[in-house]
Amino acid sequence: MRTQVGIIGAGPAGLLLSQLLHLKGIDSVVLERQSRAYVLSRIRAGVLEQGTVDLLKTAQVGERLDREALLHGGIELAFNGKRRHIDMKGLTGGSVVTVYGQTEVTKDLMDARNALGGQLVYEAEDVTPHDFDGDKPRLTYRKDGIEHEVFCDYIAGCDGFHGISRRSVPQTALKTFERAYPFGWFGLLCETPPVHDELIYNNHERGFALCTMRSPTRSRYYIQCATDENVDDWSDDRFWDELRSRLPGDIAERLVTGPSIEKSIAPLRSFVAEPMRFGRMFLAGDAAHIVPPTGAKGLNLAASDIYFLSRALTAVFETGSNDLIDSYSAQCLRRIWKAQRFSWWMTSLLHRFPESSPYEQRLQQAELDYVTSSPAAATALAENYVGLPYE
Ligand code: APR
Ligand code: PHB
Repeated sequence: MRTQVGIIGAGPAGLLLSQLLHLKGIDSVVLERQSRAYVLSRIRAGVLEQGTVDLLKTAQVGERLDREALLHGGIELAFNGKRRHIDMKGLTGGSVVTVYGQTEVTKDLMDARNALGGQLVYEAEDVTPHDFDGDKPRLTYRKDGIEHEVFCDYIAGCDGFHGISRRSVPQTALKTFERAYPFGWFGLLCETPPVHDELIYNNHERGFALCTMRSPTRSRYYIQCATDENVDDWSDDRFWDELRSRLPGDIAERLVTGPSIEKSIAPLRSFVAEPMRFGRMFLAGDAAHIVPPTGAKGLNLAASDIYFLSRALTAVFETGSNDLIDSYSAQCLRRIWKAQRFSWWMTSLLHRFPESSPYEQRLQQAELDYVTSSPAAATALAENYVGLPYE
């Protein structure tokens, strides 16, 4: 098989790239290890920056999003039993974020690729990138016991943190930066109305909690948990009791509980791999970087990588110019490191760290007080939360 861009991974990054390239007349094949049903069963984050929404609209997948998504002009920070509003819209001159689940984004992209005859291969085993340091890269994989080969001009490694692309690069060519946090997030999805019309980020002595949502009838809640916690040890009732204990009194009273649809635990980690280009292979999204979910930046960074990558590949195919390909890695990394900083800051501000001293806990309280009372500090939070510019 021959294509222009061989894409590994059918998460939001891989599908969005394939769709944007198609709209520019560039052909691609997407190879995904999992089944379509498995990919759609993964529950992930749900806050989209305006840049992400605009890019999805450019990709012609904005229709259901326009109908169903919720626009949020602010968030709340709760600490010491108080709730404080951050007016992101007011502080940023009108920017808002869009609440729409990543699973829905993925489904819309899958449907759009299928409607346009996109080549998506699910359950592709042993996908391997080859010869990307020369000018004839190729991918090999196995499907239903048969070996396949895809010849292409470029390879996009959009295969997430555990993917094969980054691992195929000689380790001497790669520099990695990492921080593992000493806790995880326990998430629960539920068919009940959200407890509040805005997201509430709670700093509490028992640990962080987040009240978020997917729709007016579907809520998502998270509680900070130990890294070795086991989902099976947590009945729904135990989760609800723990969540309630971390919420301000009036919110705890209003919480509507119900049977969980999904429960999962994710560790918190920060990770960056540099550079993001190796000859004719590019890394994008979680394949190159991970942020803790506290700043809601994971999916948004994948989208901005794909903005830069689709633009660079379009330029090379349309004009033969390598300029944007050459600047791809540096351009992405500039934005990625700012999102790393913000995600680390939000995580540090809101969680209970096992090793933190009474002094550090007082500093955290002072910072929460500062960020919720100083317009300058609140603006710094707001402009990062709604998303820094792409350029
Ligand atoms: N071969 C083929 N596909 C693979 C391989 C492999 N060896 N390894 C992983 N994949 C697939 C995964 O099954 C997954 O469907 O690559 C896809 C990567 O998708 P994501 O992990 O969703 O990563 P990405 O598309 O970069 O999306 C960005 O933002 O909110 C965050 O982590 C969240 O998924 C999210 C991400
Ligand atoms: C979510 O809705 O799942 C969500 C929202 C905000 C975050 C993280 C996750 O910071």
